[in-house]
Amino acid sequence: MSDKPEGIVEILIDRETISGRIEELGREISAAYKDRTPLLVGVLKGCVLFMSDLVKEITIPVEMDFISLMSYADAHRPSGAARITKDLDCVIEGRDVLLIEGIIDTGMTAGYLLRNLEARRPKSIRVCTFLDKEARRILRIPITFRGFKVPDRFVVGYGLDFRQLYRNLPYIGILSDAITGLNRY
Ligand code: IMP
Ligand code: MG
Repeated sequence: MSDKPEGIVEILIDRETISGRIEELGREISAAYKDRTPLLVGVLKGCVLFMSDLVKEITIPVEMDFISLMSYADAHRPSGAARITKDLDCVIEGRDVLLIEGIIDTGMTAGYLLRNLEARRPKSIRVCTFLDKEARRILRIPITFRGFKVPDRFVVGYGLDFRQLYRNLPYIGILSDAITGLNRY
């Protein structure tokens, strides 16, 4: 696919690079959880394309569940406040939980989720994020599995959106500042 939709200024990570890295992550996760059956908890909706490709590269048994939350943070007022809009279906007490994120930016969302899930007494909890925008981190998040580090630009595609659009792009693209404006988050 060579045509970029309007607003995409650059393809940052192409689909071949993504699929190669996801194969590696699948191997890393399979080795780390050998002889266990982890519960993969996807954070909707940004995780969806990444998680569906990732699980196909994992060779041990896994279970999948999903959680969705609405954050009250914005670019000028990051806060840890969030509300769960769709909770897990299953009980995680005693389970090996692997949280699957599309992107970790300030870390506020992941921090809130980790606190919330830890209170349910899982046996272990680790974080796997497709993208890590570490230059903007406010809260330290222990990341065990990371797809790619990305620069401090607004990126879309492969599940990540701007105002719900662009999630279906099969690559990670940089969105033009003319589209995001100042209030890009
Ligand atoms: P946090 O700042 O780590 O809490 O991230 C909050 C959420 O902002 C992420 O889960 C994404 O949904 C969104 N987000 C942050 N940076 C980007 C980006 O570059 N593109 C698309 N969504 C982003
Ligand atoms: Mg979004």
